[in-house]
Amino acid sequence: MNALLEVEDLTVRLPVAGEPRTVLRDVSFSLDRGGTLGLVGESGSGKSMTVRTLARLLPDGADVRGTVRFDGADVFALRAGALRSYRAKDVAMIFQDARAHTNPVRTVGDFLTEALRVNDRMPKPAARKRARDLLAEVGITDPERRLRQYPHELSGGLLQRVMIAAAVAARPRLVLADEPTTALDVTTQAEVMAILRRMRREYGMAMLFITHDLELAGAVCDETMVLYAGRTVERQASKRLHADPLHPYTAALVRARPEIDRRVERLPAISGHPTTAYEAPDGCAFAPRCRFAEEECGAGCRPAADRTGADPVRPDARTARPAAAAAPAGTASTEEVPR
Ligand SMILES: Nc1ncnc2c1ncn2[C@@H]1O[C@H](COP(=O)(O)OP(=O)(O)O)[C@@H](O)[C@H]1O
Ligand code: SF4
Ligand SMILES: [Mg+2]
Repeated sequence: MNALLEVEDLTVRLPVAGEPRTVLRDVSFSLDRGGTLGLVGESGSGKSMTVRTLARLLPDGADVRGTVRFDGADVFALRAGALRSYRAKDVAMIFQDARAHTNPVRTVGDFLTEALRVNDRMPKPAARKRARDLLAEVGITDPERRLRQYPHELSGGLLQRVMIAAAVAARPRLVLADEPTTALDVTTQAEVMAILRRMRREYGMAMLFITHDLELAGAVCDETMVLYAGRTVERQASKRLHADPLHPYTAALVRARPEIDRRVERLPAISGHPTTAYEAPDGCAFAPRCRFAEEECGAGCRPAADRTGADPVRPDARTARPAAAAAPAGTASTEEVPR
């Protein structure tokens, strides 16, 4: 059985002042039906662009190479009607800033019933009842009152629950969650994550979960993929990625996390600055910040590690590090990289 989502060699360029700028380069991954994949990376690494590309929500003039297949269908070949149905019924998006994705002059009720009335042609009373049920499903009490309220009358956590209710309304097969809890306090974050997890399990939805928090990705997703400068650098089962990262960038991210049972004066930060896909050198984009960098890491070397075996791994993308680079204790080891 083929995967629900198959992304192969995805390269995206966006026009900036008339010049094409690369924002994603050769990104490949797949996601099984009902599966979960975490997408992590520093700011500007291309996480949101990946999601926007999957939903075909790119700015005008975007140049897309490679393929995105949803349930076997080429997403970039979908015509207007099929694209509308794909966006309305197959995939749903949840954003970081719920407030920015609601209309301040329309009530929660209008927001929730609109899609039901337009896409499912539901009569108003039925749509209203369904909206009440949806709010109850995401743990919102007094749903009738909430339906009459405007977004500014709801807290960030409540509004994110409304977004989740709207996202699951059509029982999509794939949820694209782009940092859905980043703007929330820790307690609300946990509540929202619990709802998302329950909804996903109940309805068997697959989820691409974007976060800059490696720990959260590990807690939520079976597998985690790390992006750097618009490229995939590593993908592994989440548990293993934490315990035994293959790529020096992932290892540096793992080391930079605070741990409850480890007391340190200062967390080891990654030196230098993240780079964009547009500015990245031809070879390994991480080279200017990598403590193992050496001459062989120049042009032609595009390391990426994939231990899942789910995707075809091209010969030039098999090694996490060049064979010559020695691995100090506690870091990625070349012997463990699949060849
Ligand atoms: N509309 C746009 N036009 C051109 N470049 C963009 C646009 N939106 C984002 N970018 C660039 O694409 C890259 C990836 O951005 P993004 O996917 O938003 O990063 P992330 O979500 O990982 O923080 C960044 O370098 C960003 O500046
Ligand atoms: S290719 Fe070289 S610079 Fe890049 S991550 Fe591997 S060791 Fe570091
Ligand atoms: Mg983003």
